[in-house]
Amino acid sequence: MSLLTIMPSGKTITAGEGMTLLAAILAADEALTHKCNGNAACGTCHVYVQEGRKGLSRIAKEENEKLDAIVGVGSKSRLACQAKILGTEDIKVELLGFGSGF
Ligand code: FES
Repeated sequence: MSLLTIMPSGKTITAGEGMTLLAAILAADEALTHKCNGNAACGTCHVYVQEGRKGLSRIAKEENEKLDAIVGVGSKSRLACQAKILGTEDIKVELLGFGSGF
C-alpha cells in the first residue's frame, strides 16, 4: 500500500499495489480527464509526480511516445493511466487542471 497525496486539493488516500494512478485518483473522487479510457492514446491524464516516482512502474514505450507529443511535459510527467503503483513508496501527484493533452 502507498499513501497517495493529490494536489492541489491535498487529499490523501491509500492505494494498493498494481492500481493505476488514474484509478486511484478517480477513487479519491478527484476529477481527471481520461478521454481514451487508459489506452495511452489521448494524453489528457497527464499529471506531474512530485514525490515518490520510484514507487511507480517504469515508463513504457507507448507512454513515452505519447508524452513526447504533449506540451508542458517535464521530468515529473506521467500518464496517470499508465503509471502503476508499486506499493513501495508514498506518492504525491499534481493534477494540472488544463488540457495538457491537446
Ligand atoms: S487516459 Fe488517455 S492517455 Fe491516459
